[in-house]
Amino acid sequence: MYTLKTIPLNPEGGNLSAVRGAVLTFKADPFLNNEDECYDYIDDALVVIQDGHIVAAGPYRDVYDAYGSRIGAGSIDHYENSLILPGFIDCHIHYVQTPMIGSFGDTLLNWLNEYTFPTESRFNDKKFADEVARIFFRQLLSQGTTTANVFATTFAESVDAFFEESERYNTRMISGKVLQDRNLPDSLRDPDTEQSVVIAEELLRKWHNRGRQLYAVVPRFAPTSTPRQLELAGDLYRRYIDTGVYMHTHLDEVQSEIDWVTQLFPDQPNYTEVYRHFGLIDRRSVLAHCCIVRPEEWQVLHDSDCGVAHCPSSNLFLGDGEFKFWEAKDATRPLRTGMATDVGGGTNFSILRQLGEAYKVAMLNSRSLTAMRAFYMATRGAAEVLHLENTIGSVAPGYEADLAVLDLQPSEFAAWRMQFAENIRDRLFVLMTLGLNNVNRATYVAGRRVYDRDRDHKWLYADEL
Ligand code: GUN
Ligand code: ZN
Repeated sequence: MYTLKTIPLNPEGGNLSAVRGAVLTFKADPFLNNEDECYDYIDDALVVIQDGHIVAAGPYRDVYDAYGSRIGAGSIDHYENSLILPGFIDCHIHYVQTPMIGSFGDTLLNWLNEYTFPTESRFNDKKFADEVARIFFRQLLSQGTTTANVFATTFAESVDAFFEESERYNTRMISGKVLQDRNLPDSLRDPDTEQSVVIAEELLRKWHNRGRQLYAVVPRFAPTSTPRQLELAGDLYRRYIDTGVYMHTHLDEVQSEIDWVTQLFPDQPNYTEVYRHFGLIDRRSVLAHCCIVRPEEWQVLHDSDCGVAHCPSSNLFLGDGEFKFWEAKDATRPLRTGMATDVGGGTNFSILRQLGEAYKVAMLNSRSLTAMRAFYMATRGAAEVLHLENTIGSVAPGYEADLAVLDLQPSEFAAWRMQFAENIRDRLFVLMTLGLNNVNRATYVAGRRVYDRDRDHKWLYADEL
């Protein structure tokens, strides 16, 4: 039962605003508990917001009776035939690959050499980085994504451009300088290993916990760092982990990559151990892909309380391997698991479309992913990956007011199809499976409607609202 929940108002705080409509939010993990007890759904809810935080959420009548007199006239945004969700969370994406998304795939390693590395080499140009960051944020927000764990690239300019744009929207974002000092073109390679980590630390001190921004130590993947760089990265991570800094990298994506790691690090028994050896596997580590994982690796990742990012569109596009959710969520050693687009390996910015792809990837192994489990991995499950499950990823009092408003009737056909979807599960499954266009009609970041599909200026920065 979804009842009225509140936190005390701040008497000296700002005006109240509110969003009304059907709300779905998760409170427990449906992979590990009875699915019906893991979510709250209410047909007609009111969510009250003050100073960027949710202060009350529950059935419209109850909440309105308690707060209506204090919400200014015209301050309730009412969405009919819609579904209000926590803003989507993308656990792994490369903003610097936005200019080359949709480049001919072939294998991962060829695709990196042919398209990715040349594109990323351009990000020492701050103007170019600024332009890409601007476009990237517009894509995320138009898809209802409000938080992402983002690869920049080698250059400090790429990190600054990203966080500067994030600050304009006041989004909660994670990023960091990519550490990569071997096996890539000179134009992208860190020229000096010791200096690369000094620069990473300077950026960390500049951006971590500045407003809503969070920093990650980001070695690209084991093959593109020397052992010395991995060692320094592990040292940096350990020195700052207690302040909430992350470690973000790729792991066990495709067999050819794993074979290369075996060759480069013959003393380590598996890929996870390479990272662990250098102190990179710990409680704030986020590992992207994890398609081909040995049982002993899952165990280490679980024991270290790491999070994994499931990137189905990218895995299909690059022919990597199949993520196995039943392995990741094995109840005897479950992993924090969330969804990710992995743009530019992923072919779109939509977390909703990732859910449809995740369903199909699982079906290749005759496992079906329920809509509730899928939407969990897009919201609260992803927040768990980032250890932010008490901050974002739920529509509940005390949480930051990041919301996506999905249109259940974005086209004539969608409206017609939806009438045959009898309950919230059916509606969610249709949403994740059909890949409908223009589904997201509004995105709220810290309580401000920074994206509105139906407004003249679709995107507005926080200070423009
Ligand atoms: N492994 C190392 N770098 C990358 C990248 O940019 N994309 C993907 N999908 N895998 C990687
Ligand atoms: Zn990636």
